[in-house]
Amino acid sequence: MKHSTENIIELKNLPVHLGVIMDGNGRWAKKRGLPRLAGHRAGMRSVKQIVNSCGEIGIRYLTLYAFSVENWLRPKAEVTGLMRILREYLLKEIDELDGKGVKIVASGRIEDLEKTALKILRDCIKRTQHNQGLVLNLALSYGGRAELTDAIKSLAQDIKSGHVSPDKIDEFVISKHLYHPEIPDPDLIIRTSGEHRLSNFLIWQSAYSEFYFTEVLWPDFDREELLQSLLEFQGRERRFGRV
Ligand code: IPE
Ligand code: IPE
Ligand code: MG
Repeated sequence: MKHSTENIIELKNLPVHLGVIMDGNGRWAKKRGLPRLAGHRAGMRSVKQIVNSCGEIGIRYLTLYAFSVENWLRPKAEVTGLMRILREYLLKEIDELDGKGVKIVASGRIEDLEKTALKILRDCIKRTQHNQGLVLNLALSYGGRAELTDAIKSLAQDIKSGHVSPDKIDEFVISKHLYHPEIPDPDLIIRTSGEHRLSNFLIWQSAYSEFYFTEVLWPDFDREELLQSLLEFQGRERRFGRV
C-alpha cells in the first residue's frame, strides 16, 4: 500500500521559496485524444490544489512558471486560449485566494499579455498587495534571459543618471534590479512531465537550487506528489560550495 507522506513530512525544514515548471499539459490532453487546451484547463485544477497546499503547509513563496517568453511562438489559437484560461483562473479564484491571505505578484514582461488578462492581473495584484499569507508569484511572459536583460537596462539607466557607480556593481546590486528582489532565491525547483531542463526559468536565482524532476504530467500533479517532492528535498544536503 502506498502510504501517505502527510504524516511524515517535517514542517520545519521546508523550502522557503518553491518554484514549479508546470509542464506536460499538452501530452496529458494528447493521451486522452483531447485538444491541447483541455490539458491547460486541467492544469488549472493542479494550480488550485498546489497553491492551497503550499499555503496550508506554510511555504512562504511559490513561483509558478505559467507562460514563457518563448511560448509566444506557439500557434495563435493556443496562445489566445492560454490568455483566456489565465483570465478565467484569476476571476474565478481571486475571492478565495484573497480570503486565504494570498498575495499575488507577477514576474515577466507582463505588459505583453492580452489586454483584458493584464487588467485583471493588475487588479488582483493591487487587491492582494497587503496580504500576509503565501506569496504567489506568477511567471508570465517570463524568461530568465529577458529578466537579466531588463535588469541590465535598468542598471544602465542608474549608471547613466549617476545613481550607481560601475565599480560598485556586485551580485547584490544586480539582484536588486530583478523583477522581485524581495523574493529569496528558490530552494527547490520542481519540473513535471519528465523533461530535465530549466527552459529559461529563474536562471540567475537557481544557482544553488535543488531540483526535483518527476514523470508525472502537470494535470496529474497533486498534493501527494507535492509532499513527495518536499520529503525528498528534506533529505538533501545543501552545501553551497562548502564542506
Ligand atoms: C505546460 O504544458 C504549459 C505551458 C507551457 C503553457 P505544455 O503545453 O508545454 O505541455 P507539453 O509539454 O506540450 O506536454
Ligand atoms: C516551460 O515549458 C514553460 C512553462 C512551463 C510555462 P515548455 O514546454 O515551454 O518548455 P520546453 O519548450 O519543453 O523547453
Ligand atoms: Mg511543455
